[in-house]
Amino acid sequence: MFLKLRKSPKPTRELPSSDSSVIKKVQAFTMLSPDRLGNLFRLASELVSRSVGGDFVECGACRGGSGAIMAYIAKGEGWKRKVWLVDSFMGHPEPSKISGIDREIMKEWAGTMIASQADVRKALKTVGAYSEKHIRIVPGWFQDSLLSIKIRKIALLHIDADWYDATLLCLEKLYPSVVSGGYVVVDDYDNPSFPGVKQAVREFFADKAHEISFSFEVSPALTVKKG
Ligand SMILES: C[S@@+](CC[C@H](N)C(=O)[O-])C[C@H]1O[C@@H](n2cnc3c(N)ncnc32)[C@H](O)[C@@H]1O
Repeated sequence: MFLKLRKSPKPTRELPSSDSSVIKKVQAFTMLSPDRLGNLFRLASELVSRSVGGDFVECGACRGGSGAIMAYIAKGEGWKRKVWLVDSFMGHPEPSKISGIDREIMKEWAGTMIASQADVRKALKTVGAYSEKHIRIVPGWFQDSLLSIKIRKIALLHIDADWYDATLLCLEKLYPSVVSGGYVVVDDYDNPSFPGVKQAVREFFADKAHEISFSFEVSPALTVKKG
């Protein structure tokens, strides 16, 4: 069961000021708090320093702010991996047949948070991390777009999709490609406004506790380390 997962303390190391300035630069392009951006920064940097191979992937890129952090680290490493930024770019969807707990809230949010691929490129350029060759911006509903791409190895999977059905789908399609030693970060896991996220995560990991070495929260995001 998921709750058996060991809690690891939240990383507390301060980022050097040059790195915190990157976090400041992306703030106009993201809904994530500096704490959560800092968590992505540290995890991506740690994967690089441990030489864990695999792409960085974000489901729910919106205007590209959190993705730009991952791209910044990939660029700093010399583009040894690709960065995939996936979003409908049509905002939030209407509820689906399996939306369940989210159904009523989804009706209110449908069509909000519309961003464009140009917004994402602008965010990446703001931190000097845009590369036609290494960045893959993938538009479309996850149920279509995730079928159209093949990502062999994932080192860091950031899911920021807000809903039960989208979170579950991203985990089902992409978690198998997350390498041992890689991380999955699910934003809004502990956000009472988006209860479906926790439900999807708990359901998905219910039979996978043995594959996880630890988990921790930088509230409301959950980080899980595979392997
Ligand atoms: C909270 S926003 C992501 C925020 C972003 N990570 C940031 O840095 O601000 C959630 C995104 O999920 C996308 N989304 C939600 N459900 C989706 C689906 N089924 N398919 C594709 N995109 C979806 C929305 O378009 C929205 O841009």
